Amino acid sequence: MYGELDLGSLTIFSGSFINYGYWDQLDPGHEISVEERTASQAELYRQVVSRLEPQAGQRLLELGSGIGVGAALVARQFGTSVSGLDRSPAQLARAAEVNAKALKELPLSYHEGSVTEIPWDEGTFDGLYSVEMLQHVDDLAAVAREAHRVLKPGGNFAVATFFSPDGADTSQVADLIETVASGVDVIRPVGEFAADLTAAGFGEITVTSIGTHVWRQFDQWVGQTEHRDSWGRNWLRCFESGWVDYFIVTARR
Ligand SMILES: C[S@@+](CC[C@H](N)C(=O)[O-])C[C@H]1O[C@@H](n2cnc3c(N)ncnc32)[C@H](O)[C@@H]1O
Repeated sequence: MYGELDLGSLTIFSGSFINYGYWDQLDPGHEISVEERTASQAELYRQVVSRLEPQAGQRLLELGSGIGVGAALVARQFGTSVSGLDRSPAQLARAAEVNAKALKELPLSYHEGSVTEIPWDEGTFDGLYSVEMLQHVDDLAAVAREAHRVLKPGGNFAVATFFSPDGADTSQVADLIETVASGVDVIRPVGEFAADLTAAGFGEITVTSIGTHVWRQFDQWVGQTEHRDSWGRNWLRCFESGWVDYFIVTARR
């Protein structure tokens, strides 16, 4: 998908995370530090995983674990075991290297495979989560079915990524966002994913917009980097036009 490109090395990301982050409100004149940028990405993980209400010792699966620092954070902070699943061998190699110490100290592991064909038996996990990865998947109904299959009854599923608000006109987004034009990112109505979850057998579905914690602050960060004149600045325009938003979606099996 990204080829050999190490997205985590781009200055728009930091700390080996690859997400837009969850931020408090920022003074527009504030100079964001790299530490603050990294903290925003770690906070997005906490926002998602806390919604699983995980208990220490439980077994969690992360879908699209990237360079694996989020999975390590979750295992350390929530006292759970975490298996990270990613389809990119290059990401998995980075994860093994970056998290070598955590892999020795924590119940943590990384595995190759696709979220549309999850390589575990049914009823394996107490909780499932993903951070900024479902926008890469064509078949979200398959993800919903697979998530339902590998979760134990009563287990929770929580995801964060960008979707369109239901009813939004997204016709201009591909002209503004290169990764949407190329098909790397797909923008779907969030209600469509909620319907996929229902069809797969999930209940208690919640859809929460967190866009006010993401887009303006992420744009402020991009404006500080050498990408300040790039198409990446158009995300904020898409959000402010009501075409795209960032959501946390949760469901119970
Ligand atoms: C934007 S990165 C996010 C990584 C990590 N969650 C984070 O926040 O730092 C998305 C990740 O999803 C992985 N991915 C994309 N499609 C996938 C699929 N169908 N199955 C498993 N992983 C996938 C990519 O290889 C990439 O590592």
